[in-house]
Amino acid sequence: MKIIIDTPEKIAEAAAKRYVELLSEKPDAVLGYATGSTPLDLYAELARLNRAGEITFKDVTTFNLDEYVGLDGTHDQSYRYFMDKNLFEKIDVDMAKTHVPSGMDVDKAAEYDKAIEAAGGIDLQLLGIGNNGHIGFNEPGTPFGSVTHVVELTKSTREANKRFFSSIDEVPTHAVTMGIKTVMNARKIIFIALGSAKAPIVREMIKSDVTPEVPASVLLLHPDVEVYLDFEAAALL
Ligand code: PGA
Repeated sequence: MKIIIDTPEKIAEAAAKRYVELLSEKPDAVLGYATGSTPLDLYAELARLNRAGEITFKDVTTFNLDEYVGLDGTHDQSYRYFMDKNLFEKIDVDMAKTHVPSGMDVDKAAEYDKAIEAAGGIDLQLLGIGNNGHIGFNEPGTPFGSVTHVVELTKSTREANKRFFSSIDEVPTHAVTMGIKTVMNARKIIFIALGSAKAPIVREMIKSDVTPEVPASVLLLHPDVEVYLDFEAAALL
């Protein structure tokens, strides 16, 4: 695990460079994307580089980590909508090659892993972390062998995400997420944590034992992870 500590702006630039490098070597790479506040600067930077002609996504295939159960892609809090607005509509990606788990057709969850495999596996997976250590929506206690599945969201996750909804009652109770094994199968992982609220869990992830109680701790077992932390998120290391 390589740890890089810098400002959020420099992190976005450095992480974006990894995409430039990967796509110049492998233009048809398979990219695993994430939602939330954390990747927004990176997505803006990728869109800027795309406009500037320094990177093209026209041959990539993408798979997002997760989606809320019960929200279809037109709902403004669905992760499909988030990706369309914050990245896909701003870059030259082929929309037909972008995948977000279906929040409506959850019986298809297991097929998601098969689709990833059929595309050749994920070359570069982007990850954030929840305050409770989740990656994707793999909440504490999720088995490391899990593949894409439906989860019940913890109270702390629903609390953390209620800022985007009119009330906590509106926050979906379940989500469909790539499993820990799905994530760990990615050839390379870029992990980003920003802000002081993430400092305690970042410390736990790096300093505690590898345990399903801290899902992100599994990343210590992955051969190629770059961990990008801003100074606030790194403050307790
Ligand atoms: P955030 O979410 O980027 O909005 O902090 C991260 C996560 O819950 O994985």
